[in-house]
Amino acid sequence: MAIAISVVNQKGGVGKTTTTVNLGAALAAKGKRVLLIDIDAQSNLTTHLGLGSKEDAADLNEIPQGPELTIYDVLKGSKKIHDVIIKRSPNLEVVPSSLLLSAADLELGGVVGRELLLKRAIEKVRDQYDIILIDCPPTLGLLSLNALAAVDKVIVPVQSEYLALHGVRQLLDTIDQVRNVYNQNLIVGGVLICLHDSRKRLARAVADTIRAYFGQLVFNTIIRENVALAEAPAKGQTILEYMPKSSGAEDYSALAEEVLNVKA
Ligand SMILES: Nc1ncnc2c1ncn2[C@@H]1O[C@H](COP(=O)(O)OP(=O)(O)OP(=O)(O)O)[C@@H](O)[C@H]1O
Ligand SMILES: [Mg+2]
Repeated sequence: MAIAISVVNQKGGVGKTTTTVNLGAALAAKGKRVLLIDIDAQSNLTTHLGLGSKEDAADLNEIPQGPELTIYDVLKGSKKIHDVIIKRSPNLEVVPSSLLLSAADLELGGVVGRELLLKRAIEKVRDQYDIILIDCPPTLGLLSLNALAAVDKVIVPVQSEYLALHGVRQLLDTIDQVRNVYNQNLIVGGVLICLHDSRKRLARAVADTIRAYFGQLVFNTIIRENVALAEAPAKGQTILEYMPKSSGAEDYSALAEEVLNVKA
């Protein structure tokens, strides 16, 4: 029975997608059966894994085509989750996203039980994986509520920069509300310091502040700033595929180890 984790922070660009992809890849490399779900209309996870539209298509008139079937079809109820899963590599499977998802808040607004659509979908495949990771959008709308209602834990990436904790109170309040209404077992599995530049005094100070605020909840592993992590998406590769000896690969492997130890 899979453990399901949402990677969430409504602050943009903090490392949610990078973490979902590369933590997932590191867990898969350790022999775990992993399902990644992209529930962000930007579809960054989908393209990061080389499953998105062809941005570098030679013919500029060619309309970029993403995957035909996506999480959008599942949430709309026209497809089963089994129908949209893509096998990326032996242990790593993906539910892709689509730009169509940007209208989901409106389109699903009138649906009864709209906050539980993803939970119901995931329940059908939980027994086929060890870990399910969900990459959330940088908002706390209906899609993020679905992601929070569907999982056992959340991982909150924060950037060790000025205003790192901006909005965190609101995020924790939202998690509390979801726990009270939809998902009483939901826990914060960990706060992850991302994009960390230990040479910067400010970054070190912010990391200390984050540890003071969250205490034991902060993962020991810190994800260092590493250009290879920023380059890998353009290659459609995980960091383990693109540069297995990089600090990024090392950090996400250490994080995978930490996540598995907590689980045991
Ligand atoms: N440790 C890192 N070192 C260097 N670059 C990184 C690192 N982590 C993420 N990046 C880069 O920073 C940018 C933002 O990261 P990412 O897309 O993972 O954030 P996000 O929280 O998913 O953003 P959004 O809120 O838009 O979904 C990306 O260009 C990514 O490649
Ligand atoms: Mg993202």
